[in-house]
Amino acid sequence: MKKLTRKHFLVGAGSVLAAGAAGFGVKQAFFSSTSETIPRNPLYVPPVIDGTTFNLTLAESSKQFFSGAKTSTYSYNGESFWGPTLRWKKGETVSLNVTNNLNEMTTTHWHGIHLPASADGGPHQMIDVGETWSPPKFEVKNEAATYWYHPHMHETTQKQLTMGAGGFIIIEDDSEASKALPSEYGVDDFPIVFTSRRFETTNAFDVSKDTAYGDYLLANGVLNPEVTLPAQLVRFRILNAETERFYNLGFADDRKFYVVGTDGGLLNKPAEVTRVRIVPGERYEIVIDLSDEKVGSSFDMKAFNENMPFGAGGSEQAQAGNFGSLLNNTTFSLLHIKVGKATSGGVKTLPSALATASMWSKSDAGNSRTLNITDDGPGTPFKFDGNSFDHNTINQTIKLGAIEAWTIQNDKIFGHAFHIHDVQFSIISRSTGEVAEHEKGWKDTFGILPEETVTFVAKFEDYASKTEPYMYHCHMSNHEDGGLMGQFLVVD
Ligand code: C2O
Ligand code: CU
Repeated sequence: MKKLTRKHFLVGAGSVLAAGAAGFGVKQAFFSSTSETIPRNPLYVPPVIDGTTFNLTLAESSKQFFSGAKTSTYSYNGESFWGPTLRWKKGETVSLNVTNNLNEMTTTHWHGIHLPASADGGPHQMIDVGETWSPPKFEVKNEAATYWYHPHMHETTQKQLTMGAGGFIIIEDDSEASKALPSEYGVDDFPIVFTSRRFETTNAFDVSKDTAYGDYLLANGVLNPEVTLPAQLVRFRILNAETERFYNLGFADDRKFYVVGTDGGLLNKPAEVTRVRIVPGERYEIVIDLSDEKVGSSFDMKAFNENMPFGAGGSEQAQAGNFGSLLNNTTFSLLHIKVGKATSGGVKTLPSALATASMWSKSDAGNSRTLNITDDGPGTPFKFDGNSFDHNTINQTIKLGAIEAWTIQNDKIFGHAFHIHDVQFSIISRSTGEVAEHEKGWKDTFGILPEETVTFVAKFEDYASKTEPYMYHCHMSNHEDGGLMGQFLVVD
């Protein structure tokens, strides 16, 4: 692998060294080992909203992270960070209303959801200050899985996400309900959003566009989190909501665990793993087996981010500066787990068959296209095929009903997190090796390393519009805001 460092190829290279040396204004009180110096805090589980009408209000809020000043945050529905979990049922028609009580424009996008472009909540469906956006109602067609909602306001997505705006969407369906998977929310089934923040000495979040990484890990907005889990099978619905950081997930004792679901559905059968890479925007549903665990024992879920391949978000060595962080190139705790008593009726055995999806393959694709991730030289923003995002340019036009193979080529020396709206796809090849078993489910986001090429196949069905586009982009929100985004129409 090339011997290059981050400062050779990203904007603001000059300031890397300046800020890196001093770390002016950045909270470093608990410098080297967050898990030992900050008391453990119980994992927060967001409240659930059920039904078919969902009202969200995005507003400023605050949260006590450290002693002294509270930290200003953004959140939905009066949470202090993030927002409530929306639980949808496949086949039902949902009506959504989002009120913007911030002092800036926003949008709310339903990540991973197959819906009409006019309801998508991308950069085109802006919600003015004080206004309420009520997208057209749509039928929930996605499979049971974990999705999320978040701001998608062009050029301020990174800031609004960093302030804490977002929430989970859990879709349920009959097929999933018929499988004996852990599914008691907050008991044996937990949505967990991991991200990290850099704090100013005033305790404010560092929301600079130039800051790619946080120094302190947050799980559902909680610093140094711990949770007590019943001694049985437990499901985590994990979301990476970082700006750039990848996580190489696993457990301190290298125990086996099972991936049961990807971004857009259950895998056909559980995939046994000891590590899973999860990139910004991606979700994995995993099951851990605690049924033989002693009540009172404890262990950590960790990000094994030491020695990640070059170009993986967070592999940089620096501890400070725009592309440095206290968590970079280290293995750090994500969640401290304590084992408690089993619940009555808790799940003890993992079903061996979960779904019967037949994924698209290359031969299903009637059309193919290739997107190159480019830039204009070291230190300039990333683009697709030489084009920075432009509201007035439609980059791709797709026929309604088409099955297409898209190949994403990354010749640049940093990794990305490719995401496309409207569809769930199947990854059919990676130039760097076999597609892992746990990645062979419905996906809407994937990581791509330097000098890697990934091909996926998707079907663009149900919704067409000559005027309202969907987006594809890098889910590293700084890259997305910086122009690594394009738009496509699905036309009849
Ligand atoms: Cu999660 Cu275009 O977004
Ligand atoms: Cu990117």
